[in-house]
Amino acid sequence: MTILHQVEVSLAARSYNISIGAGLLPRAADFFPGGVTGRAVFVLTDENVIRPHADVVAAALKRAGATVHIMAVPPGEASKSMDMLQRVLSWMIDHGVTRQSALFAVGGGVVGDLGGLAASLVMRGIPYLQMPTTLLAQVDSSVGGKTAVNMKQGKNLVGAFYQPAAVICDLDTLATLPRREFLSGYAEIVKYALLGDPEFFDWLERNGAAVCAREPAALAHAVAVSCRAKAAIVAEDERETGNRALLNLGHTFGHALEAAAGYDGRLLHGEAVSIGMAMALDLSREMKLCPAEDARRGAALLTAAELPVSAATIRPSMGDARSIAAWMDSDKKIADGRKTFILLRGIGKAFTCNDVTDAQAVDAIARSLKGD
Ligand SMILES: NC(=O)c1ccc[n+]([C@@H]2O[C@H](COP(=O)([O-])OP(=O)(O)OC[C@H]3O[C@@H](n4cnc5c(N)ncnc54)[C@H](O)[C@@H]3O)[C@@H](O)[C@H]2O)c1
Ligand SMILES: [Zn+2]
Repeated sequence: MTILHQVEVSLAARSYNISIGAGLLPRAADFFPGGVTGRAVFVLTDENVIRPHADVVAAALKRAGATVHIMAVPPGEASKSMDMLQRVLSWMIDHGVTRQSALFAVGGGVVGDLGGLAASLVMRGIPYLQMPTTLLAQVDSSVGGKTAVNMKQGKNLVGAFYQPAAVICDLDTLATLPRREFLSGYAEIVKYALLGDPEFFDWLERNGAAVCAREPAALAHAVAVSCRAKAAIVAEDERETGNRALLNLGHTFGHALEAAAGYDGRLLHGEAVSIGMAMALDLSREMKLCPAEDARRGAALLTAAELPVSAATIRPSMGDARSIAAWMDSDKKIADGRKTFILLRGIGKAFTCNDVTDAQAVDAIARSLKGD
């Protein structure tokens, strides 16, 4: 086991560590405060992750003397449902869950969000550990304690803020991740650089290719810097009343694109965010808030990773700018009836802006659809 970086998420009594390294899954038991010996422990995963990774975790927990139960949900967003939540809860109850139990969520953001919510509910809350196996989950969804399932009315509408006992990012797990999924997570890494860390942005300009080639040292650094950025924002604003909104850079546009595409696989979340960030840069430039050169560099960093930066690349097209913009209205992050956009005064200088008119937002989408 090699722990390369450790990041603390400081939340008083609910503080925890994110451990980033290699060979961590076989040592899963070591990360549970108090140890797992004699406990009923639940490993939640999905069918793509059970074989290469979650089995390793289950075996490690057994070796450490836990009674281990493992459940694999079907891969994909559809498993983040009320129905699946109920099945996970029943599974734990049927297998003798007690308040001394723990849940290990081994998988991407779907497993993490579903598992975290189930852990928050069963027996009024048992500890859980996040073992993220996608890049997106390692740098984003596993950190911060937001858990949720989707409703037919929209995504993530039912959930809880419930912090894990630990987050274990084993970079070895990323070796089996499909390239498109990997790059989707890379878009969130670029987001941290763009929103508040110009030095990290410079570093990515030089080392982004090494990160995307999954070179261990570069990848570990990028994951650690990203986790530190998210941890700092979460520590300051656990319940998203202020600065945590900056994490939505690229997401107001991105969510509208995802919704317009009907979550049909045309666009992965990170791809939508990549296009959304390019739109935010373009709108910031158009509103004379951001130097054109910074907007160009932002888009170039995404393009260098072969991420999409314009809605013109989505096939088949999802309709016109106005109909895509209409999806933004149903986004839940609306303050006082006005849409909140995260815009940029330059690289590393994101801010919350409530002054974007509907016409400006529609025009930005229209430019993106034309590939401008
Ligand atoms: N809680 C939060 O703060 C937060 C933040 C961002 C996103 N999210 C949520 O995260 C979810 C998206 O997460 P995601 O992108 O990880 O998606 P995901 O969990 O669906 O995983 C993507 C795909 O990769 C597969 N996979 C996972 N790990 C693998 C591995 N190591 N090797 C091979 N295949 C692997 C999965 O089976 C799945 O098919 C969304 O539901 C989103 O709402 C939550
Ligand atoms: Zn995101």
